[in-house]
Amino acid sequence: MLKLPEHYESLEETLDTSMKILEDAIENRRNVFHTPVLSTFSDSKINSRVIVLRGFDPVKRTLRIHTDSRSRKIKDISENSDATLLGYDPDLKIQLKLHGSIDIHYQDNIADLAWRDSQEMSKVCYSISESPGKEIDDPGNYDVDSENININEGYKNFAVINFHFNSLEFLYLRSSGHRRSIHVWEAEELISSWMVP
Ligand SMILES: Cc1cc2nc3c(=O)[nH]c(=O)nc-3n(C[C@H](O)[C@H](O)[C@H](O)COP(=O)(O)O)c2cc1C
Repeated sequence: MLKLPEHYESLEETLDTSMKILEDAIENRRNVFHTPVLSTFSDSKINSRVIVLRGFDPVKRTLRIHTDSRSRKIKDISENSDATLLGYDPDLKIQLKLHGSIDIHYQDNIADLAWRDSQEMSKVCYSISESPGKEIDDPGNYDVDSENININEGYKNFAVINFHFNSLEFLYLRSSGHRRSIHVWEAEELISSWMVP
């Protein structure tokens, strides 16, 4: 269970709490930020979807996400790498909004390592014969028969997307007074301010 302040007196506390939440979110499935919403551009339109956070490097401010290399988001991100990540935990009463850009990793060291560290049940999804999002007549024909597939075949459809954030917005809803702060890294220098909630 995360131990977080009841009151936020300083900007540092808001950033410290945000980083703790993201660190906890990687392993803790009950942490709502384990499955935040990732938004990217699809041409000039916004496209949002829920993803699972698989890794976090707080020094590099990078969050690791696994996906199918055939999915729409890979094409979209390769055309425009701008992205936001959003989550709200109603128990903690905290919303985090991160803005940054995404690097795609396909059949390189980063993808290799992530694939080797993935559980068998996660690898199975990448063996589906057709691309995610393709229109089909009968979904029953696309159920994964995990006993009769070679799980490692899925590696050719596996990609890692690393989301690197350069801004983090924290919002804490509390009846005695909401607290909202923004932390921006400009050329690695951190600039933090309070905002009107
Ligand atoms: C709880 C949950 C977790 C999900 N995790 C992922 C994930 O880690 N990676 C992923 O690519 N899609 C994940 N999805 C599916 C996406 O939300 C989305 O439907 C899919 O990636 C296709 O998105 P796209 O067409 O924008 O590429 C998840 C969906 C849910 C509901």
